[in-house]
Amino acid sequence: MKISKICCIGAGYVGGPTMAVIAQKCPEIKVTVVDINEARIAAWNDENLDNLPVYEPGLDKVVGEARGRNLFFSTQVDAAIQEAEMVFISVNTPTKTYGEGKGQAADLKWIELCARQIAAASDSDKIVVEKSTLPVRTAEAVKDILSNTGNGVKFQILSNPEFLAEGTAVEDLQQADRVLIGGENSPEGKEAIQALVDIYAHWIPRERILTTNVWSSELSKLTANAVLAQRVSSINALSELCEVTEADIDEVARAIGADSRIGGKFLKASVGFGGSCFQKDILNLVYISRSYGLTEVADYWEQVIKMNDHQKGRFARKIVKSLYNTVSGKKIAFLGWAFKKDTNDTRESAAIYVADQLLNEKAQISVFDPKVKYQQIQSDINYLQTRGKEENGALLESVADPYEACKDSHAVAILTEWDEFVQYDWKKIYDSMLKPAKIFDGRNILDHEQLREIGFRVYAIGKPLE
Ligand code: UDX
Ligand code: UDX
Ligand code: ADP
Repeated sequence: MKISKICCIGAGYVGGPTMAVIAQKCPEIKVTVVDINEARIAAWNDENLDNLPVYEPGLDKVVGEARGRNLFFSTQVDAAIQEAEMVFISVNTPTKTYGEGKGQAADLKWIELCARQIAAASDSDKIVVEKSTLPVRTAEAVKDILSNTGNGVKFQILSNPEFLAEGTAVEDLQQADRVLIGGENSPEGKEAIQALVDIYAHWIPRERILTTNVWSSELSKLTANAVLAQRVSSINALSELCEVTEADIDEVARAIGADSRIGGKFLKASVGFGGSCFQKDILNLVYISRSYGLTEVADYWEQVIKMNDHQKGRFARKIVKSLYNTVSGKKIAFLGWAFKKDTNDTRESAAIYVADQLLNEKAQISVFDPKVKYQQIQSDINYLQTRGKEENGALLESVADPYEACKDSHAVAILTEWDEFVQYDWKKIYDSMLKPAKIFDGRNILDHEQLREIGFRVYAIGKPLE
Protein backbone atom coordinates (compact mmCIF):
# COMPACT_ATOMS: atom_id res chain seq x y z
CA MET A 1 0.00 0.00 0.00
CA LYS A 2 1.46 3.32 -1.03
CA ILE A 3 0.59 6.41 0.96
CA SER A 4 0.02 9.63 -0.98
CA LYS A 5 -1.82 11.72 1.61
CA ILE A 6 -1.21 12.03 5.33
CA CYS A 7 -3.26 13.93 7.89
CA CYS A 8 -1.91 14.76 11.33
CA ILE A 9 -4.30 15.83 14.09
CA GLY A 10 -2.53 18.18 16.51
CA ALA A 11 -0.06 20.89 15.44
CA GLY A 12 1.96 21.01 18.67
CA TYR A 13 5.52 20.25 19.70
CA VAL A 14 5.25 16.71 18.38
CA GLY A 15 2.92 16.97 15.38
CA GLY A 16 4.45 20.12 13.87
CA PRO A 17 8.13 19.16 13.67
CA THR A 18 7.44 15.48 12.89
CA MET A 19 5.21 16.27 9.94
CA ALA A 20 7.55 18.99 8.69
CA VAL A 21 10.39 16.45 8.48
CA ILE A 22 8.19 13.77 6.86
CA ALA A 23 7.09 16.34 4.25
CA GLN A 24 10.67 17.44 3.69
CA LYS A 25 11.91 13.88 3.18
CA CYS A 26 8.91 12.60 1.19
CA PRO A 27 8.11 15.29 -1.40
CA GLU A 28 5.61 13.02 -3.19
CA ILE A 29 3.38 12.74 -0.09
CA LYS A 30 0.90 15.50 0.73
CA VAL A 31 1.04 16.16 4.48
CA THR A 32 -1.72 18.20 6.12
CA VAL A 33 -1.43 19.14 9.80
CA VAL A 34 -4.74 20.16 11.40
CA ASP A 35 -5.60 21.67 14.76
CA ILE A 36 -8.68 23.14 16.38
CA ASN A 37 -6.56 26.01 17.68
CA GLU A 38 -6.90 28.66 14.96
CA ALA A 39 -4.18 30.93 16.34
CA ARG A 40 -1.71 28.05 16.30
CA ILE A 41 -2.48 27.18 12.70
CA ALA A 42 -2.21 30.85 11.70
CA ALA A 43 1.23 30.95 13.33
CA TRP A 44 2.34 27.83 11.43
CA ASN A 45 1.22 29.61 8.24
CA ASP A 46 2.91 32.89 9.14
CA GLU A 47 5.10 34.16 6.29
CA ASN A 48 7.72 35.20 8.80
CA LEU A 49 9.29 31.91 9.86
CA ASP A 50 10.44 33.51 13.14
CA ASN A 51 6.79 33.39 14.23
CA LEU A 52 6.29 29.62 14.11
CA PRO A 53 4.50 28.52 17.31
CA VAL A 54 7.23 26.03 18.18
CA TYR A 55 10.83 27.15 18.49
CA GLU A 56 13.27 24.44 17.41
CA PRO A 57 16.71 24.99 15.89
CA GLY A 58 16.52 24.28 12.14
CA LEU A 59 12.73 23.95 12.05
CA ASP A 60 12.24 27.23 10.17
CA LYS A 61 14.39 25.93 7.34
CA VAL A 62 12.50 22.62 7.07
CA VAL A 63 9.09 24.34 7.16
CA GLY A 64 10.31 26.96 4.65
CA GLU A 65 11.33 24.21 2.26
CA ALA A 66 8.17 22.10 2.40
CA ARG A 67 5.32 24.46 3.29
CA GLY A 68 3.03 25.17 0.35
CA ARG A 69 4.74 22.41 -1.66
CA ASN A 70 3.51 19.30 0.14
CA LEU A 71 3.15 20.55 3.72
CA PHE A 72 -0.06 22.32 4.75
CA PHE A 73 -1.45 23.62 8.03
CA SER A 74 -5.22 23.90 8.35
CA THR A 75 -8.18 24.05 10.71
CA GLN A 76 -10.32 21.95 8.33
CA VAL A 77 -10.01 18.77 10.38
CA ASP A 78 -12.72 16.68 8.70
CA ALA A 79 -11.63 17.43 5.14
CA ALA A 80 -8.03 16.49 5.89
CA ILE A 81 -9.07 13.23 7.59
CA GLN A 82 -11.34 12.32 4.72
CA GLU A 83 -8.76 12.59 1.96
CA ALA A 84 -5.89 10.93 3.86
CA GLU A 85 -4.93 7.25 3.74
CA MET A 86 -2.96 7.61 6.97
CA VAL A 87 -4.01 9.69 10.01
CA PHE A 88 -1.56 10.51 12.81
CA ILE A 89 -2.93 11.38 16.26
CA SER A 90 -0.61 13.94 17.91
CA VAL A 91 -2.90 15.59 20.40
CA ASN A 92 -1.92 16.35 23.96
CA THR A 93 -2.51 13.81 26.71
CA PRO A 94 -2.14 15.69 30.01
CA THR A 95 -2.36 14.02 33.40
CA LYS A 96 -5.93 13.85 34.71
CA THR A 97 -6.87 16.76 36.98
CA TYR A 98 -10.13 15.23 38.22
CA GLY A 99 -11.79 11.97 39.22
CA GLU A 100 -10.27 8.49 39.35
CA GLY A 101 -6.52 8.52 38.69
CA LYS A 102 -6.37 12.27 39.27
CA GLY A 103 -2.77 13.52 39.21
CA GLN A 104 -1.48 10.24 37.77
CA ALA A 105 -3.42 8.69 34.92
CA ALA A 106 -3.41 10.24 31.46
CA ASP A 107 -6.54 12.11 30.46
CA LEU A 108 -7.66 10.29 27.35
CA LYS A 109 -10.58 12.60 26.66
CA TRP A 110 -8.82 14.23 23.71
CA ILE A 111 -7.75 10.93 22.22
CA GLU A 112 -11.26 9.59 22.40
CA LEU A 113 -12.69 12.74 20.82
CA CYS A 114 -10.11 12.40 18.11
CA ALA A 115 -11.00 8.77 17.45
CA ARG A 116 -14.68 9.65 17.25
CA GLN A 117 -13.93 12.46 14.84
CA ILE A 118 -11.87 10.16 12.61
CA ALA A 119 -14.69 7.62 12.65
CA ALA A 120 -17.26 10.24 11.67
CA ALA A 121 -15.20 11.86 8.92
CA SER A 122 -13.98 8.70 7.18
CA ASP A 123 -15.56 7.14 4.10
CA SER A 124 -12.56 5.02 3.05
CA ASP A 125 -10.18 2.60 4.85
CA LYS A 126 -7.41 4.22 6.86
CA ILE A 127 -4.32 3.54 8.88
CA VAL A 128 -4.47 5.39 12.21
CA VAL A 129 -1.12 6.07 13.88
CA GLU A 130 -0.81 6.88 17.59
CA LYS A 131 1.94 9.41 17.94
CA SER A 132 1.00 10.98 21.27
CA THR A 133 2.51 9.42 24.37
CA LEU A 134 -0.20 7.14 25.61
CA PRO A 135 -0.64 4.63 28.37
CA VAL A 136 -0.33 1.01 27.42
CA ARG A 137 -3.45 -0.45 25.77
CA THR A 138 -4.80 2.83 24.45
CA ALA A 139 -4.68 1.45 20.94
CA GLU A 140 -7.30 -1.04 22.04
CA ALA A 141 -9.69 1.74 23.04
CA VAL A 142 -9.07 3.62 19.82
CA LYS A 143 -9.65 0.45 17.85
CA ASP A 144 -12.87 -0.26 19.69
CA ILE A 145 -14.29 3.16 18.85
CA LEU A 146 -13.16 3.01 15.23
CA SER A 147 -14.39 -0.51 14.55
CA ASN A 148 -17.91 0.21 15.71
CA THR A 149 -18.80 3.01 13.35
CA GLY A 150 -21.12 0.79 11.31
CA ASN A 151 -20.20 2.45 8.00
CA GLY A 152 -18.06 -0.45 6.75
CA VAL A 153 -14.81 1.50 6.83
CA LYS A 154 -11.80 -0.53 8.07
CA PHE A 155 -9.08 0.89 10.29
CA GLN A 156 -5.64 -0.43 11.17
CA ILE A 157 -4.12 1.00 14.34
CA LEU A 158 -0.37 1.49 14.65
CA SER A 159 1.68 2.75 17.57
CA ASN A 160 4.61 4.91 16.49
CA PRO A 161 5.85 6.69 19.60
CA GLU A 162 7.91 9.83 19.37
CA PHE A 163 11.41 9.91 20.82
CA LEU A 164 12.35 13.44 19.83
CA ALA A 165 13.66 15.70 22.54
CA GLU A 166 12.79 19.36 22.50
CA GLY A 167 15.57 21.67 21.42
CA THR A 168 16.98 18.95 19.17
CA ALA A 169 13.72 17.82 17.55
CA VAL A 170 14.78 18.32 13.95
CA GLU A 171 18.09 16.54 14.43
CA ASP A 172 16.42 13.72 16.40
CA LEU A 173 13.90 13.26 13.59
CA GLN A 174 16.40 13.42 10.77
CA GLN A 175 18.96 11.15 12.46
CA ALA A 176 16.86 8.99 14.75
CA ASP A 177 18.60 6.32 16.88
CA ARG A 178 15.58 4.20 16.08
CA VAL A 179 12.02 4.42 14.86
CA LEU A 180 9.54 2.15 16.60
CA ILE A 181 6.40 0.88 14.88
CA GLY A 182 3.94 -1.41 16.65
CA GLY A 183 1.10 -3.11 14.85
CA GLU A 184 -1.12 -6.18 14.69
CA ASN A 185 0.33 -9.50 13.68
CA SER A 186 -2.32 -10.10 10.96
CA PRO A 187 -1.87 -9.74 7.17
CA GLU A 188 -3.66 -6.35 7.28
CA GLY A 189 -1.61 -5.31 10.30
CA LYS A 190 1.64 -6.23 8.57
CA GLU A 191 0.60 -4.32 5.46
CA ALA A 192 -0.09 -1.22 7.57
CA ILE A 193 3.27 -1.53 9.35
CA GLN A 194 5.01 -1.83 5.98
CA ALA A 195 3.29 1.32 4.69
CA LEU A 196 4.70 3.32 7.62
CA VAL A 197 8.11 1.63 7.36
CA ASP A 198 8.25 2.75 3.70
CA ILE A 199 7.72 6.37 4.75
CA TYR A 200 10.55 6.40 7.31
CA ALA A 201 12.81 4.37 4.99
CA HIS A 202 13.03 7.53 2.82
CA TRP A 203 15.74 8.70 5.23
CA ILE A 204 16.21 6.24 8.13
CA PRO A 205 18.43 3.15 7.57
CA ARG A 206 16.17 0.07 7.54
CA GLU A 207 17.96 -1.63 10.47
CA ARG A 208 17.02 1.28 12.71
CA ILE A 209 13.30 0.83 12.06
CA LEU A 210 12.09 -1.61 14.72
CA THR A 211 8.73 -3.33 14.41
CA THR A 212 6.96 -4.87 17.41
CA ASN A 213 3.49 -5.66 18.62
CA VAL A 214 1.33 -2.70 19.64
CA TRP A 215 1.70 -3.22 23.38
CA SER A 216 5.49 -3.45 23.34
CA SER A 217 5.64 -0.27 21.34
CA GLU A 218 3.35 1.63 23.71
CA LEU A 219 5.21 0.38 26.79
CA SER A 220 8.64 1.13 25.28
CA LYS A 221 7.80 4.79 25.02
CA LEU A 222 6.87 5.07 28.70
CA THR A 223 9.88 3.02 29.71
CA ALA A 224 12.41 4.95 27.64
CA ASN A 225 11.35 8.15 29.37
CA ALA A 226 11.21 6.50 32.80
CA VAL A 227 14.75 5.13 32.48
CA LEU A 228 16.09 8.48 31.25
CA ALA A 229 14.41 10.32 34.13
CA GLN A 230 15.73 7.71 36.55
CA ARG A 231 19.29 8.49 35.46
CA VAL A 232 18.74 12.17 36.23
CA SER A 233 17.18 11.39 39.63
CA SER A 234 20.04 9.00 40.41
CA ILE A 235 22.68 11.61 39.69
CA ASN A 236 20.67 14.28 41.51
CA ALA A 237 20.38 12.05 44.57
CA LEU A 238 24.15 11.70 44.56
CA SER A 239 24.55 15.46 44.14
CA GLU A 240 23.12 16.02 47.61
CA LEU A 241 25.61 13.54 49.01
CA CYS A 242 28.44 15.35 47.19
CA GLU A 243 27.43 18.67 48.73
CA VAL A 244 28.01 17.37 52.25
CA THR A 245 31.21 15.49 51.43
CA GLU A 246 34.28 16.57 49.51
CA ALA A 247 33.13 14.95 46.27
CA ASP A 248 32.23 16.84 43.09
CA ILE A 249 29.21 15.50 41.16
CA ASP A 250 30.62 16.42 37.72
CA GLU A 251 33.75 14.41 38.48
CA VAL A 252 31.67 11.49 39.75
CA ALA A 253 29.45 11.61 36.66
CA ARG A 254 32.46 11.58 34.37
CA ALA A 255 33.98 8.66 36.23
CA ILE A 256 30.89 6.47 36.18
CA GLY A 257 29.90 7.49 32.64
CA ALA A 258 33.23 6.26 31.31
CA ASP A 259 32.04 2.69 31.98
CA SER A 260 30.67 1.62 28.60
CA ARG A 261 27.92 -0.35 30.36
CA ILE A 262 26.68 2.92 31.89
CA GLY A 263 27.57 5.52 29.24
CA GLY A 264 28.23 9.21 29.70
CA LYS A 265 25.01 10.78 28.42
CA PHE A 266 22.14 12.00 30.59
CA LEU A 267 24.13 12.19 33.80
CA LYS A 268 24.11 15.95 34.25
CA ALA A 269 23.10 16.97 37.74
CA SER A 270 20.52 19.76 37.73
CA VAL A 271 17.86 21.63 39.67
CA GLY A 272 15.50 18.88 38.50
CA PHE A 273 14.09 17.52 35.28
CA GLY A 274 11.05 19.05 33.63
CA GLY A 275 9.25 18.78 30.32
CA SER A 276 5.90 17.46 29.27
CA CYS A 277 6.95 13.81 29.19
CA PHE A 278 9.08 12.54 32.05
CA GLN A 279 6.79 13.16 34.99
CA LYS A 280 3.64 12.34 33.08
CA ASP A 281 4.98 9.09 31.70
CA ILE A 282 6.32 7.89 35.04
CA LEU A 283 3.06 8.75 36.79
CA ASN A 284 1.38 6.72 34.13
CA LEU A 285 3.70 3.79 34.67
CA VAL A 286 3.04 4.02 38.41
CA TYR A 287 -0.71 4.16 37.86
CA ILE A 288 -0.73 1.18 35.52
CA SER A 289 1.49 -0.87 37.87
CA ARG A 290 -0.75 -0.12 40.84
CA SER A 291 -3.86 -0.93 38.88
CA TYR A 292 -2.42 -4.42 38.32
CA GLY A 293 -1.55 -4.69 42.04
CA LEU A 294 2.22 -4.43 41.46
CA THR A 295 2.99 -2.34 44.54
CA GLU A 296 6.80 -2.78 44.53
CA VAL A 297 7.06 -1.89 40.85
CA ALA A 298 4.91 1.21 41.35
CA ASP A 299 6.86 2.34 44.43
CA TYR A 300 10.17 1.85 42.63
CA TRP A 301 9.28 4.22 39.79
CA GLU A 302 7.44 6.67 42.00
CA GLN A 303 10.68 7.29 43.85
CA VAL A 304 12.12 8.88 40.68
CA ILE A 305 9.46 11.60 40.92
CA LYS A 306 9.85 12.03 44.67
CA MET A 307 13.60 12.53 44.24
CA ASN A 308 12.96 15.14 41.55
CA ASP A 309 10.50 17.05 43.74
CA HIS A 310 13.03 16.93 46.54
CA GLN A 311 15.76 18.34 44.27
CA LYS A 312 13.61 21.33 43.23
CA GLY A 313 12.55 21.94 46.81
CA ARG A 314 16.00 21.85 48.29
CA PHE A 315 17.31 24.26 45.64
CA ALA A 316 14.71 26.81 46.74
CA ARG A 317 15.42 26.13 50.42
CA LYS A 318 19.12 26.62 49.82
CA ILE A 319 18.47 30.09 48.38
CA VAL A 320 16.34 31.09 51.36
CA LYS A 321 18.78 29.70 53.89
CA SER A 322 21.80 31.41 52.39
CA LEU A 323 19.98 34.74 52.29
CA TYR A 324 19.82 34.60 56.11
CA ASN A 325 16.52 32.71 56.17
CA THR A 326 14.50 35.56 54.77
CA VAL A 327 13.86 36.57 51.17
CA SER A 328 10.79 38.70 51.88
CA GLY A 329 10.97 41.79 49.67
CA LYS A 330 14.37 40.75 48.30
CA LYS A 331 14.98 40.79 44.58
CA ILE A 332 16.13 37.46 43.16
CA ALA A 333 17.05 37.14 39.49
CA PHE A 334 16.09 34.01 37.54
CA LEU A 335 18.12 33.32 34.42
CA GLY A 336 16.02 30.86 32.45
CA TRP A 337 12.43 29.69 32.74
CA ALA A 338 12.22 27.02 30.00
CA PHE A 339 12.59 23.40 31.16
CA LYS A 340 15.83 23.09 29.16
CA LYS A 341 17.81 25.18 26.70
CA ASP A 342 16.90 25.82 23.07
CA THR A 343 13.16 25.56 23.59
CA ASN A 344 10.38 27.98 24.51
CA ASP A 345 8.51 25.16 26.24
CA THR A 346 7.99 25.58 29.99
CA ARG A 347 5.80 22.59 30.84
CA GLU A 348 6.78 21.15 34.26
CA SER A 349 9.88 23.35 34.27
CA ALA A 350 11.79 23.27 37.58
CA ALA A 351 11.79 27.10 37.46
CA ILE A 352 8.04 27.16 38.11
CA TYR A 353 8.28 25.19 41.35
CA VAL A 354 11.37 26.98 42.62
CA ALA A 355 9.67 30.31 41.94
CA ASP A 356 6.48 29.18 43.68
CA GLN A 357 8.38 28.28 46.82
CA LEU A 358 10.25 31.60 46.85
CA LEU A 359 7.01 33.51 46.24
CA ASN A 360 5.59 31.78 49.33
CA GLU A 361 8.43 33.53 51.16
CA LYS A 362 7.42 36.84 49.49
CA ALA A 363 10.52 37.17 47.33
CA GLN A 364 10.52 39.56 44.35
CA ILE A 365 11.53 37.53 41.31
CA SER A 366 12.79 39.03 38.07
CA VAL A 367 13.02 36.53 35.20
CA PHE A 368 15.01 36.67 32.01
CA ASP A 369 14.60 33.88 29.47
CA PRO A 370 15.72 34.29 25.85
CA LYS A 371 12.62 32.55 24.47
CA VAL A 372 9.85 32.58 27.08
CA LYS A 373 7.41 35.48 27.21
CA TYR A 374 5.90 37.23 30.25
CA GLN A 375 2.40 35.87 29.60
CA GLN A 376 3.64 32.27 29.65
CA ILE A 377 5.48 32.80 32.93
CA GLN A 378 2.40 34.28 34.56
CA SER A 379 0.17 31.54 33.24
CA ASP A 380 2.59 28.86 34.52
CA ILE A 381 2.62 30.27 38.04
CA ASN A 382 -1.10 31.02 38.11
CA TYR A 383 -1.81 27.44 37.04
CA LEU A 384 -0.52 26.21 40.41
CA GLN A 385 -3.22 28.26 42.18
CA THR A 386 -0.97 28.78 45.19
CA ARG A 387 -1.96 32.46 45.43
CA GLY A 388 -4.02 35.02 43.53
CA LYS A 389 -3.16 36.36 40.09
CA GLU A 390 -2.65 39.89 41.38
CA GLU A 391 -0.09 38.77 43.91
CA ASN A 392 1.77 36.71 41.32
CA GLY A 393 1.72 39.70 38.98
CA ALA A 394 3.14 41.94 41.69
CA LEU A 395 5.90 39.58 42.86
CA LEU A 396 7.00 37.99 39.60
CA GLU A 397 8.18 40.10 36.68
CA SER A 398 10.01 39.30 33.49
CA VAL A 399 12.39 41.60 31.67
CA ALA A 400 13.90 41.61 28.20
CA ASP A 401 17.45 42.21 29.36
CA PRO A 402 19.46 39.85 31.60
CA TYR A 403 21.49 42.68 33.15
CA GLU A 404 18.27 44.42 34.08
CA ALA A 405 17.03 41.22 35.77
CA CYS A 406 20.20 40.97 37.89
CA LYS A 407 20.52 44.65 38.79
CA ASP A 408 19.97 45.34 42.52
CA SER A 409 19.31 41.66 43.22
CA HIS A 410 20.57 39.73 46.25
CA ALA A 411 21.02 36.55 44.28
CA VAL A 412 21.05 35.19 40.74
CA ALA A 413 19.69 31.69 40.12
CA ILE A 414 20.41 29.77 36.91
CA LEU A 415 17.36 27.63 36.10
CA THR A 416 18.00 26.78 32.44
CA GLU A 417 21.31 25.95 30.77
CA TRP A 418 21.09 28.51 27.93
CA ASP A 419 24.55 28.83 26.29
CA GLU A 420 24.44 32.62 26.27
CA PHE A 421 24.46 32.79 30.10
CA VAL A 422 28.07 31.60 30.11
CA GLN A 423 29.16 34.51 27.90
CA TYR A 424 27.68 37.28 30.05
CA ASP A 425 29.84 40.01 31.56
CA TRP A 426 29.73 38.62 35.10
CA LYS A 427 31.88 41.42 36.50
CA LYS A 428 29.29 43.92 35.29
CA ILE A 429 26.52 41.84 36.87
CA TYR A 430 28.46 41.59 40.13
CA ASP A 431 28.95 45.36 40.29
CA SER A 432 25.21 45.96 39.85
CA MET A 433 24.12 43.56 42.65
CA LEU A 434 23.71 43.94 46.41
CA LYS A 435 26.54 42.44 48.45
CA PRO A 436 27.34 39.77 49.35
CA ALA A 437 26.34 38.79 45.80
CA LYS A 438 25.26 35.18 45.45
CA ILE A 439 24.91 32.84 42.51
CA PHE A 440 22.96 29.59 42.57
CA ASP A 441 23.98 27.63 39.51
CA GLY A 442 21.19 25.10 39.11
CA ARG A 443 22.78 23.75 35.94
CA ASN A 444 26.51 23.84 36.71
CA ILE A 445 27.27 25.76 33.52
CA LEU A 446 29.22 28.77 34.79
CA ASP A 447 32.93 29.04 35.55
CA HIS A 448 32.72 28.97 39.34
CA GLU A 449 36.41 29.62 39.88
CA GLN A 450 36.24 32.81 37.86
CA LEU A 451 33.03 33.93 39.59
CA ARG A 452 34.67 33.51 42.99
CA GLU A 453 37.60 35.61 41.85
CA ILE A 454 35.16 38.38 40.92
CA GLY A 455 33.76 38.17 44.44
CA PHE A 456 30.60 36.07 44.09
CA ARG A 457 29.54 33.47 46.62
CA VAL A 458 28.77 30.49 44.41
CA TYR A 459 26.38 27.66 45.25
CA ALA A 460 26.36 24.85 42.70
CA ILE A 461 24.64 21.49 42.44
CA GLY A 462 26.67 18.66 43.92
CA LYS A 463 29.77 20.69 44.75
CA PRO A 464 31.33 21.62 48.06
CA LEU A 465 30.65 25.28 48.98
CA GLU A 466 34.12 26.72 48.52
C1 UDX B 1 12.27 13.58 26.54
C2 UDX B 1 13.02 12.41 25.89
O1 UDX B 1 14.44 12.68 25.90
C3 UDX B 1 12.52 12.18 24.48
O2 UDX B 1 13.16 11.05 23.91
C4 UDX B 1 11.01 11.97 24.53
O3 UDX B 1 10.48 11.79 23.23
C5 UDX B 1 10.33 13.17 25.21
O4 UDX B 1 10.87 13.36 26.51
P1 UDX B 1 12.49 16.23 26.45
O5 UDX B 1 11.57 16.21 27.62
O6 UDX B 1 12.14 17.09 25.30
O7 UDX B 1 12.62 14.75 25.83
O8 UDX B 1 13.95 16.66 26.93
P2 UDX B 1 15.17 15.90 27.61
O9 UDX B 1 16.40 16.29 26.90
O10 UDX B 1 14.95 14.45 27.74
O11 UDX B 1 15.25 16.58 29.05
C6 UDX B 1 14.24 16.39 30.03
C7 UDX B 1 14.61 17.10 31.31
O12 UDX B 1 15.70 16.46 31.96
C8 UDX B 1 15.05 18.56 31.11
O13 UDX B 1 14.49 19.36 32.13
C9 UDX B 1 16.56 18.48 31.23
O14 UDX B 1 17.11 19.70 31.66
C10 UDX B 1 16.71 17.41 32.27
N1 UDX B 1 18.02 16.73 32.21
C11 UDX B 1 18.36 15.99 31.12
C12 UDX B 1 18.90 16.82 33.28
O15 UDX B 1 18.62 17.49 34.28
N2 UDX B 1 20.10 16.17 33.21
C13 UDX B 1 20.47 15.42 32.12
O16 UDX B 1 21.57 14.85 32.13
C14 UDX B 1 19.57 15.33 31.04
C1 UDX C 1 30.47 -6.01 39.41
C2 UDX C 1 30.84 -4.87 38.51
O1 UDX C 1 30.38 -5.11 37.16
C3 UDX C 1 32.33 -4.64 38.50
O2 UDX C 1 32.65 -3.51 37.70
C4 UDX C 1 32.79 -4.42 39.94
O3 UDX C 1 34.18 -4.23 39.96
C5 UDX C 1 32.36 -5.60 40.82
O4 UDX C 1 30.95 -5.79 40.73
P1 UDX C 1 30.46 -8.65 39.15
O5 UDX C 1 29.64 -8.63 40.41
O6 UDX C 1 31.60 -9.56 39.08
O7 UDX C 1 31.04 -7.19 38.84
O8 UDX C 1 29.53 -9.03 37.91
P2 UDX C 1 28.50 -8.24 36.97
O9 UDX C 1 28.75 -8.69 35.57
O10 UDX C 1 28.44 -6.79 37.19
O11 UDX C 1 27.12 -8.87 37.40
C6 UDX C 1 26.55 -8.68 38.70
C7 UDX C 1 25.22 -9.38 38.77
O12 UDX C 1 24.24 -8.72 37.98
C8 UDX C 1 25.26 -10.81 38.31
O13 UDX C 1 24.50 -11.61 39.19
C9 UDX C 1 24.62 -10.77 36.94
O14 UDX C 1 24.03 -11.98 36.59
C10 UDX C 1 23.59 -9.66 37.15
N1 UDX C 1 23.19 -8.98 35.89
C11 UDX C 1 24.07 -8.24 35.17
C12 UDX C 1 21.88 -9.07 35.43
O15 UDX C 1 21.04 -9.72 36.07
N2 UDX C 1 21.55 -8.45 34.27
C13 UDX C 1 22.41 -7.70 33.54
O16 UDX C 1 22.02 -7.11 32.50
C14 UDX C 1 23.74 -7.61 34.01
P1 ADP D 1 2.47 17.72 22.20
O1 ADP D 1 3.70 18.11 22.99
O2 ADP D 1 1.98 16.34 22.55
O3 ADP D 1 2.61 17.92 20.73
P2 ADP D 1 0.81 20.12 22.31
O4 ADP D 1 -0.09 20.60 23.40
O5 ADP D 1 2.00 20.93 21.92
O6 ADP D 1 1.26 18.64 22.74
O7 ADP D 1 -0.03 19.90 20.98
C1 ADP D 1 -1.24 19.22 20.89
C2 ADP D 1 -2.16 19.96 19.92
O8 ADP D 1 -3.31 19.13 19.66
C3 ADP D 1 -2.71 21.29 20.45
O9 ADP D 1 -2.35 22.33 19.55
C4 ADP D 1 -4.25 21.08 20.48
O10 ADP D 1 -4.97 22.23 20.09
C5 ADP D 1 -4.44 19.97 19.46
N1 ADP D 1 -5.68 19.19 19.64
C6 ADP D 1 -6.14 18.59 20.77
N2 ADP D 1 -7.31 17.94 20.54
C7 ADP D 1 -7.59 18.11 19.22
C8 ADP D 1 -8.66 17.67 18.33
N3 ADP D 1 -9.66 16.89 18.77
N4 ADP D 1 -8.62 18.07 17.04
C9 ADP D 1 -7.60 18.83 16.58
N5 ADP D 1 -6.57 19.27 17.35
C10 ADP D 1 -6.55 18.91 18.64
